[in-house]
Amino acid sequence: MNPLVSESVECLDWKHKAIQKCIEKGIFNDEPYIMLYNLEEFRAKAKEANENLKGLQTMAVKCNPVLNLLKEAINNGLGAEVASYGELIMAERAGFEPSKIIFDSPIKTKKELEYALNLGCVVNVDNFQELEVIEKIISGFSAEKQASLTLGLRINPQVDAGKLEDLSTGVPTSKFGIGMEYRDEIVAAYKRNSWLKAVHLHIGSQGFEMDQTVCAVEKVMTLVKDINVELKQQISVFNIGGGLSVNFDTEVTTPTFTQYANQLKQRVPELFDGSFLLITEFGRGYWAKCGVIVSTVEYTKTSGNRNIAIVHVGGNMCVRTIYQHPIWKLRVSIFDGKGQFKDGEQDGLYVTDLAGPLCFAADLIAKQRLLPLVSQSDYVMVHDCGAYMISAYSHYNLRLAPPIYNYNINTTELELVKKGETIQQKVDFFS
Ligand SMILES: Cc1ncc(COP(=O)(O)O)c(C=O)c1O
Repeated sequence: MNPLVSESVECLDWKHKAIQKCIEKGIFNDEPYIMLYNLEEFRAKAKEANENLKGLQTMAVKCNPVLNLLKEAINNGLGAEVASYGELIMAERAGFEPSKIIFDSPIKTKKELEYALNLGCVVNVDNFQELEVIEKIISGFSAEKQASLTLGLRINPQVDAGKLEDLSTGVPTSKFGIGMEYRDEIVAAYKRNSWLKAVHLHIGSQGFEMDQTVCAVEKVMTLVKDINVELKQQISVFNIGGGLSVNFDTEVTTPTFTQYANQLKQRVPELFDGSFLLITEFGRGYWAKCGVIVSTVEYTKTSGNRNIAIVHVGGNMCVRTIYQHPIWKLRVSIFDGKGQFKDGEQDGLYVTDLAGPLCFAADLIAKQRLLPLVSQSDYVMVHDCGAYMISAYSHYNLRLAPPIYNYNINTTELELVKKGETIQQKVDFFS
């Protein structure tokens, strides 16, 4: 016998309490959908990363560029990895020290580079043409300023893709970084420029086993050691981007920063013996599991034999998952109008689609899931949405971005992190 299992998943206690608090406070009277965070979970993750990895842990701003959440990262001892001028300005505004801002990106303009270098950020160079631009800029700096700079080359270790090819940034033909095949040119660049004190790599995170990331680190470390023998330990900063996959299948965080650090310590001990400052740039590992999106069910209907519930979260918020379906499945939980979890025991289970608000047929947050009867005014909670959701927000159909709240598990109160977008802000964008 194969008993039917509800795909309205049980979830952590704070999520139950938070949705009930939102209902009690009447939040959904004004807002059809919201984001909810548990910042204690983020704080614990930042602490775990800092304690186990030492060096400088930065947060990838692209995953969550919300001012108050960036401030939270600062308060928890993180620096910032930025991938554009916009992210750089946001990081500066949040208050990150320039020396703790790492500027990556394959397309930094001369003006942007001048700004970042004058500010004193660490800059990772993506390609040889960018290096030429930087060499010209730096030649105009004083010797003292030149000596204060830290730049790195982003080396592409040219390794196999992970399970998700589209998220694999270290393959032999990647658009990111300088391939190891240019070994001689890489060595020459370090020889020419004493301010090249760092090395950077990032092969992707989601869909990678820790072992693959560590193998890529080992490969780059071999090159770095060779360069350091020749150039008297010129490279003193080893910068690893991302690398930790997120478990979207259950409520459990796996793998952990501790496990990752332990693998690195075992396989690349040089990173921890004082030879290098280790810089990391995690994004999803810190944030994805700390946040959920909750939407009211606006309407339900059947079309042919298809059960459909229409909700406010779809391709507007979950751009990468909806447009790249089925890159990975987002788990959902259904709650009734009073905030009680629905497991389907009372009313049975029905194959249902949760349809997003956008004008295209594939805008489905959940497709053909076995769910309890979903009724008008129920709530749908979408899990593991704390990273790369609000940051990838889509203006398509001019739907307003939701407000963000922290559910404080100590006081059991809601704290506003960011107001929802206003119609005026949306009109301004298109005006
Ligand atoms: C250079 C770099 N560093 C860090 C990250 C953050 O990766 P993740 O959020 O997967 O940890 C990315 C993600 O795209 C990246 O490109």
